[in-house]
Amino acid sequence: MQHTADTGTQISVVENLDAASGKRALITGASSGLGLEFAELLAAQKVNLVLAARRREPMEKLAGDLRRKHGVDILVEPIDLAAPGAAGRLKSSLDERALKIDILVNNAGYGLHGEFLETPLERTTDMIQLNITALTELSYVFGRDMAAQGSGQILLIASLLAFQPVPNFAAYAATKSYVLAFGEALHDELRPQGVIVTSLCPGHTETGFDAAAGAPVSATLRLLTMKPRPVAVTGLRALSQGQASVIAGFMNNIVAFSHRLTPRSMQRASMKRILGP
Ligand SMILES: NC(=O)c1ccc[n+]([C@@H]2O[C@H](COP(=O)([O-])OP(=O)(O)OC[C@H]3O[C@@H](n4cnc5c(N)ncnc54)[C@H](OP(=O)(O)O)[C@@H]3O)[C@@H](O)[C@H]2O)c1
Repeated sequence: MQHTADTGTQISVVENLDAASGKRALITGASSGLGLEFAELLAAQKVNLVLAARRREPMEKLAGDLRRKHGVDILVEPIDLAAPGAAGRLKSSLDERALKIDILVNNAGYGLHGEFLETPLERTTDMIQLNITALTELSYVFGRDMAAQGSGQILLIASLLAFQPVPNFAAYAATKSYVLAFGEALHDELRPQGVIVTSLCPGHTETGFDAAAGAPVSATLRLLTMKPRPVAVTGLRALSQGQASVIAGFMNNIVAFSHRLTPRSMQRASMKRILGP
């Protein structure tokens, strides 16, 4: 696996995002957290945007701000991507408007904290539908267009939890293991066709994630927490450099590296300690 240590403090490389100006990016999960940061960073590069998530209002507000500030074209598409067939409907809606996507930021996702058997099954399956099925379908429908035109960029948001099983985040961590494995394999498959696929693995980041997951934040986790801007910068920089995957933040790279040297039973115990009960 190809991973790069990154403190996420420089944003200049995003300014060099390959000939980004005039292109169009689809950002899922663009109503909060990392999605907002991707939108701001890409709009600053004069990339036109399609913003997709369930909540229209925060996306309309963001779109208004970014149009005023950067003069880019922005379409807001309120959609529940966990609904079966949502990715296809989003693609058809963009095709009807003849909007071509050059950059896909597959970011929408959420976690579920707690014991698997104590969590209503439909909440787990809804999360799998969003984190895995929608992400896969979006990669397919937009990846095919990109491969046909011989260029394109796809950023998948995995997680530091992708690297080991995590008790009390069992299904969520497993969805992110899927995203990372899928993304790295696609990187090799699509590169010869001119399409770059990069998987970003954020560690704990200050977004709406904890509230959505119902997750406590332990004192140790607080020490490892990053702001969303450097995490988004790390992902876009890795994408522009054509990397297969990247872990955001120096400390998160240390955690992932140290886990490679420890037995899986110890990895599970350490993640449980860091993430709290
Ligand atoms: N924050 C962290 O600690 C962390 C760490 C590792 C990985 N990640 C990953 O980073 C990505 C972004 O999350 P975040 O941290 O920025 O959390 P966030 O602030 O909660 O953002 C999640 C985004 O996903 C959207 N979303 C949720 N359900 C959706 C659905 N059914 N259909 C369409 N959009 C949906 C939300 O919008 P609506 O509610 O408006 O639909 C929101 O825009 C996720 O894939 C997450 O797993 C986060």
